[in-house]
Amino acid sequence: MGETVYDDCWLRYEPIQNPARRLSYRKLCSHVFTSTAGPEFGVIRDELHTGLTGLLGREPHLWMHPPRSVDGFLAVGRRERMAVVRAGVAETEIDALHEDGYIIRSVEWEDTECLVITGATNAGMVYGTFHLLRLLATRQPIDELDIVEEPKNDARIINHWDTPFRRSVERGYAGSSIFDWAQLPHLRDRYRDYARLLAAVGINGVVLNNVNTQTPDRPGENMATAGMDGWQLLQSKQLPKVAALASVFRRYGIKIYLSVNFGAPVLTGALNTADPLDDDVVQWWSETFDAVYDHVPDFGGVLVKADSEGQPGPHDYNRTHAEGANLLGRALAPHDGRVFWRAFVYGSHDDRAVQAYNTFAGLDGAFHENVTLQIKNGPVDFQPREPVSTLFGALSETNLACELQITQEYTGQGVHICYLVPQWKEIFETDTHAHEERTPVSELLAHSDGNGIAGVGNVGTDPNWTGHYLAQANLYGFGRLVWDPDLEIETITAEWVTQTFGNEPAVVETVSSILYDSWPAVLDYMTGHLGLLHMMYNKNDVLENHYNPDPWEWPEYHGADDDGIGVDRTDYAEQFPEPLAEQYLSVEDCPTELLLFFHHLPWEYEYEGITVIQRLYENCVAGVKTVRSMRDRWAGLEGDIDRARHRHVAERLDEQLVHAKQWRDTLIAFFSEYADIPDQTQHSGGVDN
Ligand code: GCU
Repeated sequence: MGETVYDDCWLRYEPIQNPARRLSYRKLCSHVFTSTAGPEFGVIRDELHTGLTGLLGREPHLWMHPPRSVDGFLAVGRRERMAVVRAGVAETEIDALHEDGYIIRSVEWEDTECLVITGATNAGMVYGTFHLLRLLATRQPIDELDIVEEPKNDARIINHWDTPFRRSVERGYAGSSIFDWAQLPHLRDRYRDYARLLAAVGINGVVLNNVNTQTPDRPGENMATAGMDGWQLLQSKQLPKVAALASVFRRYGIKIYLSVNFGAPVLTGALNTADPLDDDVVQWWSETFDAVYDHVPDFGGVLVKADSEGQPGPHDYNRTHAEGANLLGRALAPHDGRVFWRAFVYGSHDDRAVQAYNTFAGLDGAFHENVTLQIKNGPVDFQPREPVSTLFGALSETNLACELQITQEYTGQGVHICYLVPQWKEIFETDTHAHEERTPVSELLAHSDGNGIAGVGNVGTDPNWTGHYLAQANLYGFGRLVWDPDLEIETITAEWVTQTFGNEPAVVETVSSILYDSWPAVLDYMTGHLGLLHMMYNKNDVLENHYNPDPWEWPEYHGADDDGIGVDRTDYAEQFPEPLAEQYLSVEDCPTELLLFFHHLPWEYEYEGITVIQRLYENCVAGVKTVRSMRDRWAGLEGDIDRARHRHVAERLDEQLVHAKQWRDTLIAFFSEYADIPDQTQHSGGVDN
């Protein structure tokens, strides 16, 4: 069965037009000498063949010996196996490298100018190869290179919320799951091409299935989460399928993980308890993981949603999260596997924001070394903007992972452009004051065995992978930023735009400007941009869930009443150390964009020379204006971008504009109904506004 033709995303490798640049690239890259010691070198040769053929307009010569009759060449391999690498790279440099790190360096060898890519591991050299191809694709000079690069975070993982067997994707807006469990172990080209895209941006782990591993039993459950059966993946008949996928991803340095169900010993019918302190349960998990490792010797580990939204967990047996997580951590330890145990719990407190801290802070130090606590960036749930979770700064003796959402559940799904790299950068840069000196979130996550960053993925079977073409930028940006949270937003954006749409300055500038304006616009029209949360429709109509406005539905999230708006989150603010707590508790010092997250204020409270309600009105209006301008700017690119991609984005922008107006008008009607105070500037309403 043939596969739909799908997009190359950031691996398009369009021909270099500038003759001087092409010449300089051809000099060093027309001849490629690589090692063959390991399956990753098959990847390296394939990638260089594909990339260089596209970029240089002719196939490179691939050598297994260093060529001696040419002007220059590229060499990729280990230092100990290649004299040309030894000519320019010291052993101590390799010894000092992170296992995924690499060196790209210009060297002279036997009077020939060469470029070498080397590393401590084969995976490192795969990353180095993609780095060099990126330099060419973004038209950077390569004549005098001296790059020593390593990731700041050890675990860089995509979490798929894909439901195996049914192929749906929870909160996915790009079609079905790309993983076809019914056909596996039959392999599709698309698995390889997905691995290529991920490795090119530095991702080294993929969780194949949804954290909801069984149908949750909770009131108001919607069809989007019904029929979960991910727990069945641990059954022996499924393991050859997992192994088949692992065989594809392994060559790109990517490990496979599974979401597992804490109640699996019971669900499988093996035992009548899943109590973590029960000996039979301990043995069941240990044998189950042994079987997984028989099939996938480098299996990364598991992700667990326990005692959360109807999924079973240790609380069912009066045990703590640490007791539950350690059960799995111990069973995985002999194999070097890791448990990512999610901290997403709520329900037993009026304000959901406070609960994760209350549940987990006291368990600091109690987790097994093979356990990592995976914490959503904010305390509520992937809202357009939240303060960071108080847990990050509260756990000095626990391995930490931050969970971000690449898929746009609450930010316009597959229709609105919302470029999230600036949001993630803000999260990583937030100073938690966990230690006396500055301690940004990124530092708490960086460089420690067991720490990491996970992103809920946004790909599906759509030909463009991400539903909205421009949402590719979020997957790209996630990988790049997680590799190095210190990268500038502008660097990542320019890289993506150039690799995707070419290096014409007007195109790069316009597309970048649209991306930059997109998150602030969404914040304006979906939240009023003063820190309000969750005014999205949340009922049972699956396709509109968390997409349309419905501020009347969940008043506890935004706190609107006759007197005012916002939520007094003193309890949450006090979970932060000083001086953060004091800053958030003070209306004057609280960052404007989080004002109503932390404070309930009178509608006519004067803030920075304008009343709160008037500011909300004006922000909603401004958001729509920005979308209109984004649409016009995109329209101006007609002729500069191929028709199909131009039209696709233009159509989405038309739809975004209509929907942004619906948001604006709904929120303005809602605020004015409560406050009984009209919009002073009368901007709102009407299809032409
Ligand atoms: C949100 C989301 C659910 C998801 C849950 C989670 O509530 O809407 O679809 O299952 O987060 O992160 O576990």
